[in-house]
Amino acid sequence: MIDRTSLRRVQNAAAALIAGIAGFAGCTGGTEYTQTTFHPVTQYGEMLNSVFLNTFWWTMGILVLVLVLLIVAIFRFRERPGMPHPRQIHGNTQIEILWTIIPAIIVVFIGVPTVQTIFETQRRASEDALTIEVIGHQWWWEFNYPELGVRTANLFYVPVGRQIHLQMHSADVIHSFWIPRIGGKRDVVPLASAHEGEEPNYNHIVFTVDSAGTYSGQCAEFCGTSHAIMMMTAVAVAPAEFDAWVESMRASTPAPVPPDTVLPAVGDTATVVQQPAGQPASDPLAEQGRAIFHRSACLACHAISNTTAQGRVGPDLTRFGLRPTVGAGARPNTQENVEAWIRNPRDLKAGALMPGAQEDAAGFPATGLSEEEIRAVATYLRSLN
Ligand code: CUA
Repeated sequence: MIDRTSLRRVQNAAAALIAGIAGFAGCTGGTEYTQTTFHPVTQYGEMLNSVFLNTFWWTMGILVLVLVLLIVAIFRFRERPGMPHPRQIHGNTQIEILWTIIPAIIVVFIGVPTVQTIFETQRRASEDALTIEVIGHQWWWEFNYPELGVRTANLFYVPVGRQIHLQMHSADVIHSFWIPRIGGKRDVVPLASAHEGEEPNYNHIVFTVDSAGTYSGQCAEFCGTSHAIMMMTAVAVAPAEFDAWVESMRASTPAPVPPDTVLPAVGDTATVVQQPAGQPASDPLAEQGRAIFHRSACLACHAISNTTAQGRVGPDLTRFGLRPTVGAGARPNTQENVEAWIRNPRDLKAGALMPGAQEDAAGFPATGLSEEEIRAVATYLRSLN
């Protein structure tokens, strides 16, 4: 028996279905969604996307078929006045067999490509792949290029067209590496103390990026207070541009100012600062910030290539000026935000392990930097680009 309420329910269900399909179409259209899985730039991502779409269209087909049969049944077999009771049946062997076999066949069509993809995406890297060691930290990402002698954090470069082999582990708890347009997710786990002769339990992702671009992602496994602020960005560039980046990471960071150098006063633009050959000119405030950075507690935890700062506890700050954000996604990389970060990181990111100017953190003493020093250090770090 169908009344107005049931009819309205059917209409509502149909409307919800149409809205859902429209929403899905909206997600797949356009590349303005930076963390979309629908526009992969690697074969790895392509495979994941096609497994998803394969499953999606099978289930949509089933949904449409079931809904059509349901609606036909509602109208065709509805109760009418004076109608006798329908024939009561129980058990129909043919139908029982049919509705066991059809789903089994559908499961095969979904299962086979899925299992194939699992094996494909676990493939070993080829000999000439570029290995990047990825280390998850609470709450930032470390990237090492052992063959190239380059380290960076949160923002990393890859050459287009060359196979990339991410060899991943965690420095603390379990994280998950996920850059949706590249592929993933894959867990990043602490290295278990491997027994003799055993390989450490790295996780791997092997992929080749097809097109140049900037691809962002984030940690995809809850890993503590600031799990949501653990972003990373991959920049895929032409091989020549990649080589130039490597060169700049190794060499172009200005050497620290010797401690006895007379520094210009803040805002004293008339002072000419002697730059080492080939170094980008920086303003006096940045020069001052450089000196402060290299004589304060900063270098106990942070590294900047080609300087005395070689700390490994916190993120490597080489070419920090290139990074889109401060604090692995806490805020955009602006002068104001970098100053706020140095003043007290936990104002921007709960649980951050870096001490502030006046506040200790995680056993590290406060840096004691004054407002003027904070401004200078922020200027220096942002000048490293
Ligand atoms: Cu790391 Cu969530």
